[in-house]
Amino acid sequence: MPLFDVYPLYNVTPVSGKDILVYDNEGTEYLDLYGGHAVISIGHAHPNYVEAITNQVNTLGFYSNAIQNPLQKQLADKIEVLSGCKDYELFLCNSGAEANENALKLASFKTGKKRVLAFSNGFHGRTSAAVAATDNKNIIAPINAQQAVTILPLNDVEGVKRELEKGDVCAVIVEFIQGVGGLDQGTTEFFEQVDALCKANNTMFIADEIQCGYGRSGKFFAFQHYKVTPDIISLAKGMGNGFPIGGILIHPDIESKYGMLGTTFGGNHLACAAGLAVLNTIEEEKLIENTNDISEYFIGIAKTIPQIKNIKGRGLMLGLEFDFEVGDLRKELIYNYKIFTGGASNNKLLRILPPLTIKKEHVDQFFDALTKVLTEIKETV
Ligand SMILES: Cc1ncc(COP(=O)(O)O)c(C=O)c1O
Repeated sequence: MPLFDVYPLYNVTPVSGKDILVYDNEGTEYLDLYGGHAVISIGHAHPNYVEAITNQVNTLGFYSNAIQNPLQKQLADKIEVLSGCKDYELFLCNSGAEANENALKLASFKTGKKRVLAFSNGFHGRTSAAVAATDNKNIIAPINAQQAVTILPLNDVEGVKRELEKGDVCAVIVEFIQGVGGLDQGTTEFFEQVDALCKANNTMFIADEIQCGYGRSGKFFAFQHYKVTPDIISLAKGMGNGFPIGGILIHPDIESKYGMLGTTFGGNHLACAAGLAVLNTIEEEKLIENTNDISEYFIGIAKTIPQIKNIKGRGLMLGLEFDFEVGDLRKELIYNYKIFTGGASNNKLLRILPPLTIKKEHVDQFFDALTKVLTEIKETV
């Protein structure tokens, strides 16, 4: 049976991985600066992770949400300690889209309203309300288009004010660093005013931390670079280092009620074991400090390369912007220099999303290859 053909694929078949390296079916080694799309936070096959999942699957892999599962509370407590987000409550699910879907649903339950405000170039997932809040008409089917969503340019404080004052907006959802859209960030003034406007208009402020959260920005959450208090924070990607897990942190002003949200698989024993191993490793190996150190080192070198016109993002969620489309550059890096990088809807942007365990020697290896490719490109023009 053929696979439903929705992904344009590189011709590489990874079969194993260790930390920041992956190996294909012929034993060729690749440097992973893409992290399987910002998912690999603590490195491939980290021993803590392997041990935690192995032990858990050998004891109890799954039971439903109808019974006590102390691992969920352990995970919630660890998130609270590492993020410093006191008093929030945790609801667990399985993916980023599902986290945002639950966040938007909860905002609507809480406020009794149904319109959502989102921003240009934002990406929030592919399910019902999440995809409607995503600024990409190509992935919105007619069935999704029935959702009431208004998309505004990033930094349009006046637009946000005008829309919220109409009184029908349940949620403003924003990525504090845009992922798929190309690493754009709102200004400090914008984020802080949107936070205040939400609070003044009974609108829930949702921080989509699915890609920029879990240490990737150099703080546990990217919104923590600003003075804002989101009502709901959505999580996924780095949370499970590849194990499917997502969640939302919910401000205590939003009261829970039996049956309000629910899922079969969300918060299962295996997912919690994976999630706990990730957090313990981030803490033990000081991976947020490493993110900041390596980010500074990376940006320092990037600044010396004249072909790089703009360096975007924060921490280990970085974008290098060129004045040409980077498709061929990415192919050269992957096929000839064995380095995975990421692309964006801005096709002049090369995205760097490595595991947070990356070391300076890997950065040197990347820039050595990049400089060679840029020289080859110059010679062929
Ligand atoms: C910011 C953001 N939100 C939501 C999602 C959707 O996550 P998932 O693919 O796990 O549904 C993504 C995925 O790329 C994302 O980057």
